Amino acid sequence: MYRTHNCGDLRLSDVGTEVILSGWNQISRDLGGMTFIDLRDRYGITQLVFNIEEDKELCEKARKIGREFVLRAKGIVRERSNKNPNRSTGEIEIEVKTLEILNASKVPPFTIDEDTDGGDELRMKYRYLDIRRAPVRDNLIFRSKLALETRKFLSDHQFIEVETPNLIKSTPEGARDFVVPSRMNPGQFYALPQSPQTFKQILMVAGMDRYFQIVKCFRDEDLRADRQPEFTQIDCEMAFVTRDDVLATFEGLTKHLFKHTLNVDLPVFPVMSYDDAMEKYGSDKPDTRFGMEFISMNEFTQNKGFNVFDSAELVVGIVAKGIAPTYSNKDLNDLTEWVKRPQIGAKGLVYVRYNEDGTIKSTVGKFFSDEDLLDWGKRMGAEKGDIIFALSGETDKTRKQLNELRLEMGRKMGLMDPKVFNPLWVVDFPLLEWDEENNRFHAMHHPFTAPKKEDEARMLGGDFETMKALRADAYDLVINGVEIGGGSIRIHDRALQSKNFDLLGFTKEEAEAQFGFLLGAFEYGAPPHGGIAFGFDRLCAVLNGVNSIRDFIAFPKNNQGRDMMIDAPSPIAELQLKELALNVTVKN
Ligand code: AMO
Repeated sequence: MYRTHNCGDLRLSDVGTEVILSGWNQISRDLGGMTFIDLRDRYGITQLVFNIEEDKELCEKARKIGREFVLRAKGIVRERSNKNPNRSTGEIEIEVKTLEILNASKVPPFTIDEDTDGGDELRMKYRYLDIRRAPVRDNLIFRSKLALETRKFLSDHQFIEVETPNLIKSTPEGARDFVVPSRMNPGQFYALPQSPQTFKQILMVAGMDRYFQIVKCFRDEDLRADRQPEFTQIDCEMAFVTRDDVLATFEGLTKHLFKHTLNVDLPVFPVMSYDDAMEKYGSDKPDTRFGMEFISMNEFTQNKGFNVFDSAELVVGIVAKGIAPTYSNKDLNDLTEWVKRPQIGAKGLVYVRYNEDGTIKSTVGKFFSDEDLLDWGKRMGAEKGDIIFALSGETDKTRKQLNELRLEMGRKMGLMDPKVFNPLWVVDFPLLEWDEENNRFHAMHHPFTAPKKEDEARMLGGDFETMKALRADAYDLVINGVEIGGGSIRIHDRALQSKNFDLLGFTKEEAEAQFGFLLGAFEYGAPPHGGIAFGFDRLCAVLNGVNSIRDFIAFPKNNQGRDMMIDAPSPIAELQLKELALNVTVKN
């Protein structure tokens, strides 16, 4: 027998019991007459004690045991004299009678403890050691619980989990596909799914009514903290639903998940239109944990002789409350340089500082009198102690820049409490996005998204300007500024779907070749339907108040898309290439 208990089990009530434990040596301490080993497994840490006076040989053996050796210890539970209140087993220890080394270990390349000295790449290379660390292990346990609660909720709401294939034809979701050559069909390729979008719609035509899947998706796109080339979605689709049915169901799921993992009760989710989100926050995923909403300043700042404002399509600002006393001129210069970095791209930053002694200092003091600036303050709700920041220029660009500045100020002012959760539905996205460079439309969500009911007729018969203004029956779930999920009501009518492909620049033949199966299915009684997909990794991260989704993926990839542990991707043998009819020269 390897164990009677695990390393997190034993309490004072077990004192006197003979037990067997197995695990890893977290750390050993040799205090002359006594040797201690912290024995660790997934469940916790239990202290083992060896007393030189009672068994010299055993104590000597214990002294020689290195970090991460795998051990089996048999002994008696006893009360500890100096208890450790930070550990669930901190009131007891095991007086060891026999000790067996089940396996030795090399010295690990980084410290296996709550905090580690290992860098990201090293931790990914030795992920099996990293996962032994409590924070990483706990993240994986959290993820497993979140998946279980998801399945419970959805299955209680009549959703059926259906697996869809991984070797498919590309679905144009906006990113590049990962492709897989087919040996049996030389020169032809499968694509790994960017999402199961078309399959879940087919399942609705097939009458499954409510589908879900916790499913891997693959996208060959540039990686960031919240993006991995393979990631997981909670993917769902429902038949005979309106937008509000979908929102209510997935608001319910989100509330259930917060309640059953964090014991947090979320409020009713506010609903905001895309236009409002862009106007108030310059972003379709606003972080609403703090205000600092945009205020349009055109009306009272233009035609006063300041050419930068006069020539701008938009003058827009935010009020940072109470920071004037602590913000030095250097801080303001640094902030100006920050918005001028190419990543943000602003030409400059206008600020008005309302000092507590009643004086006003501004970068545009030459163009505007104190009276003018006091008027700005009145209109924008800025008082003594506050600073107004303003940017100007072309509307979309300026809003994006001010969004970055607002978030930066939110961070600097400590307004993004990771323990506060502000969910929000963003709805009524534009259906199509005009791509100036390539002179074509893109689907803002994806090509299967329906226009809003009232826009359907205009879509079938409208001109170019009408198309630009079409609204989609699409929605995103945003929590604390992170896009957790996105979905839409779908087109279920062949004519409308064909029109959409047409607008997106597909010829009839191309649409038929790529999506003939879906268009065909629509001719056999497709019900009205809609759905949504949550980014599962992102949901894990947001629930835990962190940015990086890697912490919640057992075996993540680095920023170059490499798996550091198995060292993939890697070249393949010449013979394999030949079998796959791939004419690639292998460089060694
Ligand atoms: P969408 O493309 O918006 O919608 O994706 C849904 C959610 O998946 C997450 N996500 C990602 N997470 C980690 N790494 C990535 N590279 C990544 N890309 C996306 C986001 C996003 O909100 N088929 C549609 C859904 C639908 O219409 O039902 C879709 O995939 O959290």
